Amino acid sequence: MNALAPLYQWYNQYKRELPWRQTNDPYLIWLSEVILQQTRVEQGLPYYLKFSAAFKNIEQLARAPEEKVMKMWQGLGYYSRATNMMQTAKLVVEMHQGKFPSDYASLIQLKGIGPYTAAAISSFASNEAHAVVDGNVYRVLSRLFNIKEPINSHNGKKLFARIANEVLNKKNPATHNQAMMELGALICKPQKPDCENCPLRLQCISYQEGNHLQLPIKNPKKKPVMRYLNFIVADAVNFTILQKRSGKGIWHNLYEPPSIESTSIIDNKILMAEINKLALFKTKKPIRLNKVYECKHQLTHQTIYAVFWVVACKASSLQTKPPYVKAGWKDISKFAVHRLFDKFLKYYNLQQQLT
Ligand code: ADE
Repeated sequence: MNALAPLYQWYNQYKRELPWRQTNDPYLIWLSEVILQQTRVEQGLPYYLKFSAAFKNIEQLARAPEEKVMKMWQGLGYYSRATNMMQTAKLVVEMHQGKFPSDYASLIQLKGIGPYTAAAISSFASNEAHAVVDGNVYRVLSRLFNIKEPINSHNGKKLFARIANEVLNKKNPATHNQAMMELGALICKPQKPDCENCPLRLQCISYQEGNHLQLPIKNPKKKPVMRYLNFIVADAVNFTILQKRSGKGIWHNLYEPPSIESTSIIDNKILMAEINKLALFKTKKPIRLNKVYECKHQLTHQTIYAVFWVVACKASSLQTKPPYVKAGWKDISKFAVHRLFDKFLKYYNLQQQLT
């Protein structure tokens, strides 16, 4: 008998019914995997339902306007996933005549598809024997075999990939992969694992040794980079001015108020000089900056100190030509914005209602 048979029995009995588990369409499986990277199932599920209903196949997604996709992605974070997803969709339509590949060798050649996603799609869609190794699987394997190698070290990654493929059930890789991830999500949880109900507790070495809570081992992360962002929110009663963020960094292609970035807090004199350089205000009169909202916003590798300065002004004093766009306050929800700006909008909206 396969040593992991109790795991498969448990999975058949207790698995969550998730829509991407009811299909072997590689496109839909890919969509679910992109959404679920860095996102919990409960949070990702409504997005998956929205996306799969709006774009039923890869051709529909490849043809969709980027703005529409970004808007639909809003709230999920890590926006580069959405941009990469669009690029991959276009590439697949070109390279594979609109047929999403389901074999590992073709998948791994696609931009944005790494070993994890290629293993997930090829095993779920075609039952190819490739083990998935995600955060859940790292945790399950490190505890099951009491592995103390850091999961984010070069050696650790190689070791875990090798072991994951050794224990993979070659007869049914799809169920095996889903079951490993499900065990990590429902039982072998990071903080409070439910070891009493774990189908593998009798084989779990770290559980027998009592050190399962210390696993997996991870090398400490580098300190996140600090960034200081001053947003200039021009309020011309009915509308404001936004700008589409370009460049390689965070929030690519999302809309936000014109901003000034610095590596430390800057005083008002420097800020004013930088605002002049934005050429946002056409008036020669000095503007009045009103500090309305200030917060610390945490991204994965950076901490952002943000200040939103509101400037009440006349419509005629604002530059509305590119790179700026006029955005009516009533229509602002049509723009794809990042979470930090959304936080400000909610706050500002509430404040306006109160005054
Ligand atoms: N997380 C990533 N992929 C998943 C899947 N297929 N099912 C459940 N959770 C997941």
